[in-house]
Amino acid sequence: MQTKEIIKLKDITVSFDGEPVLSGLDLNISDGEFVTLLGPSGCGKTTTLRIIGGFVTPDSGSVFFDGQDIADLPPYKRQVNTIFQRYALFPHLNVEDNVAFGMRVQKKKPAEIKETVDRMLKLVNLAGFNKRKVETLSGGQQQRVAIARALANNPRVLLLDEPLAALDLKLRKDMQVELKNIQKSLGITFIYVTHDQEEALSMSDTVVVMDAGRIQQIGTPQDIYNEPENAFVADFIGESNILDGIMHEDYLVEFFGRKFKCLDAGFGPKEPVDVVIRPEDIDIVPADKGHLTGKVTAVTFKGVHFETIVDFKGFKWMIQTTDYYPVDSVIGIVLNPEDIHIMKKSEYSGMFGDYSSYSEEFDEMANPEIDLTEEAEVQE
Ligand SMILES: Nc1ncnc2c1ncn2[C@@H]1O[C@H](COP(=O)(O)OP(=O)(O)O)[C@@H](O)[C@H]1O
Ligand SMILES: [Mg+2]
Repeated sequence: MQTKEIIKLKDITVSFDGEPVLSGLDLNISDGEFVTLLGPSGCGKTTTLRIIGGFVTPDSGSVFFDGQDIADLPPYKRQVNTIFQRYALFPHLNVEDNVAFGMRVQKKKPAEIKETVDRMLKLVNLAGFNKRKVETLSGGQQQRVAIARALANNPRVLLLDEPLAALDLKLRKDMQVELKNIQKSLGITFIYVTHDQEEALSMSDTVVVMDAGRIQQIGTPQDIYNEPENAFVADFIGESNILDGIMHEDYLVEFFGRKFKCLDAGFGPKEPVDVVIRPEDIDIVPADKGHLTGKVTAVTFKGVHFETIVDFKGFKWMIQTTDYYPVDSVIGIVLNPEDIHIMKKSEYSGMFGDYSSYSEEFDEMANPEIDLTEEAEVQE
């Protein structure tokens, strides 16, 4: 499907107080797309949104909307609206007056305003809430009002900055589905910011993974999960065991002194690589039947599966399995070619994907002395 580009960020650079916040950011967004900027706190997501909204001027680089450079266009002239984590409703106005606010500023006709308010409230499942005071609404309902208010201005692009972060888990999941449905039914572009990988994977057409002011990978949720481009992405999106390997030839990688068939090609001869193995892809077998043999060091029941930490020659892997293997069991594992994913070495190599520290944290959490000391300190 050929889609039209609505927003283009080209080689954007921003520093605050001499600290680089965005470095050479390039991003193209198609009309009608649900795009999510995903990354840890401080990686530059909000700054990127604010550049699109016109609230931050980049030090260098360009912003295009429908192919036009909009550097000189003030925020209120951009066909863009923003929804924040804090709903920023007018507390002294009722629901209807909040939603109608922008349209009244634009001097729209009362009949048109009334029709739009009712349509928007219906869209966000608040039909009939017109006269309710906003302070009598729950957090979820207030966020719906904020969404209705933003959409009432008929933006081409909606910017959403962690809009569900203040809601509890169950409500957040419901609102994820509702927001996705609203986006589909209106067909407008959503640019969504979150640090929650599951939220990003479940809502988006395209996920933009960011770290340290740079885009690490752009792709569909499946691409990002199945084909992470570097150790940062592999670690940030779900759980990953990441180890050092050497590509011997196309489709043949070595790690832990053993050669494995894989599905990756195009690396140099004997190129050092990072190997990712997802915890849910590993099959546990009797020790004498395994490609590798290890010893279970920790087990946590997670409902759907057991999170099992296994020591392979001092390197600890996470395995998610529905079978229970108690601590100290000696197990074997089998790795199929499709379970092994090869990545280029990057500045993130060696930083992620070993669960040694994970199980140490776990030991600490189970240590009552530490908990008691902290509690005592808090009470003083
Ligand atoms: N107005 C500002 N002045 C100084 N530093 C800022 C300002 N806005 C953001 N920063 C810094 O820029 C970095 C990126 O911030 P931000 O874009 O808000 O990240 P994110 O939304 O991904 O958490 C952070 O280190 C933050 O402290
Ligand atoms: Mg932010």
